[in-house]
Amino acid sequence: MLIAPSLLSCDFSKFGAEIKRMDAAGADYMHLDVMDGHFVPNLTFGAPVIKYVRPFTDKVFDVHLMISEPLKYIDDFCDAGADLITFHIESDSDPVETIKKIKSRGVKAGVVLKPNTPAKEAFEYLDMIDLVLVMTVEPGFGGQSFMADMLPKIRELKSEIDSRSLNVLIEADGGIGAGNIALCREAGVDVAVAGTAVFKADDPAKAIAQLKSL
Ligand code: DX5
Ligand code: ZN
Repeated sequence: MLIAPSLLSCDFSKFGAEIKRMDAAGADYMHLDVMDGHFVPNLTFGAPVIKYVRPFTDKVFDVHLMISEPLKYIDDFCDAGADLITFHIESDSDPVETIKKIKSRGVKAGVVLKPNTPAKEAFEYLDMIDLVLVMTVEPGFGGQSFMADMLPKIRELKSEIDSRSLNVLIEADGGIGAGNIALCREAGVDVAVAGTAVFKADDPAKAIAQLKSL
């Protein structure tokens, strides 16, 4: 299992140092939550901030776009140094065009499903993408409770991916911690996002190691 700490829970007065701290703690991906106050009722940061913190690590920059018009900003996030860009299929941008745009920049692409969006909605994009992200909370805020009723959706995606022999990773995001990561793994999750579970731990390195061991 790969662990992607969500920097949404970090101390933004030292964003670069927090990324270095997660790198040293054994993070696999740096999960960067971009919110526009429109697609979700919260605002975070955009491409200029990501560009400033890019030099602090060589780890994968996993940029999760919770914005209404992702297609408009793909070039900005690619220029800022994203390695993987995920966007919501519930957004206003055309998914195929958005995937093509991301891939044309040599960046990995993924689609995200909100809790109420069925797995089937992602099926038609699976042969074009590198990863599918299943939200296990309503997007917008860290620190919410894991929705165990998303596990069947993860299983459904996993069996579709396997039956078509596709090379698509499954990522899950929201409320993941020691109490549920084994369930995620068993359902087919390859990459687990963890904000609170890593940042509120006394020792993030221990927390990440524990999540991996479970
Ligand atoms: C929520 C974000 C998540 C969130 C995860 O909209 O996409 O990445 O920060 O944080 P925890 O692990 O605290 O739920
Ligand atoms: Zn996220």
